[in-house]
Amino acid sequence: MPELHYTTPDHAGVTQGPLLHEGKAKKVFATNRDDLVWIHFKDDATAFNGVKRANIGDKGAVNARISAHLLRHMETAAGVPSHMVAELSERDHLCKKVDIIPVEVVVRNVAAGSLCRRLGIEQGRVLPRPLVEFFYKSDELNDPLINDENALMFGWAEAWELAYLRAAALKVNEALVAFWDELDVTLVDYKLEFGRWHGNQILLADEITPDGSRLWEKGTQKSLDKDVFRKDIGDLGDTYRALFARVFGHDFAERAGGAAV
Ligand code: C5P
Repeated sequence: MPELHYTTPDHAGVTQGPLLHEGKAKKVFATNRDDLVWIHFKDDATAFNGVKRANIGDKGAVNARISAHLLRHMETAAGVPSHMVAELSERDHLCKKVDIIPVEVVVRNVAAGSLCRRLGIEQGRVLPRPLVEFFYKSDELNDPLINDENALMFGWAEAWELAYLRAAALKVNEALVAFWDELDVTLVDYKLEFGRWHGNQILLADEITPDGSRLWEKGTQKSLDKDVFRKDIGDLGDTYRALFARVFGHDFAERAGGAAV
């Protein structure tokens, strides 16, 4: 599959403004356009809600490139629109300024992580169909699992929005499972975030990266994602550069020098 770079003309003349928000792995800046934000991918790795931290060279660039590629692929292959406007550099995305819905959507194809801890399901069990779970986006509360009633009652999302999140997540899942399958990778689970755009449209937002996904190499079941860092089972930088090579068919060192647009 060819690399899918964002090359829209919409970013002409856009300049970076003040920092709006610094998250664990990204910084969000304003721009000279009210409707666009500038998102910078950092090299910082965190786990367990920020308790474990490290700086991993190249991580930001690998994640930014993979996320742009996958968000584009979700638009073309799954018909799910995203916030992406353009890749400005190898670590910077220009995105539509959405109002993030505080409901994180986790999709699972194989049992792992909190599902196993919560319900005693054995790790690695292949689920009979994709499982969509909602979590309340709150660092203070450690992103607790919620149900539709909670989200509706406390105004985190409306009923039509929850229906859209579920339907879009399943469409994304079909395309994403097929994408990783072709690369001999099992997509175990991952987290998606969505945002409101102009009030009545929902866009896939945030990122799709190995930071927020569990990816297991078929056969060996080796982790190719942030679990390497969480569980201290290898070098995260090497893991991410190897994943980049698997996705794009060439070494990270041979990438198109920086600016992708
Ligand atoms: O921890 P848990 O098993 O619920 O995570 C499921 C998936 O969602 C994992 O791939 C994890 O990386 C991702 N996730 C995330 N951010 C969170 C919670 C989970 O990216 N806050």
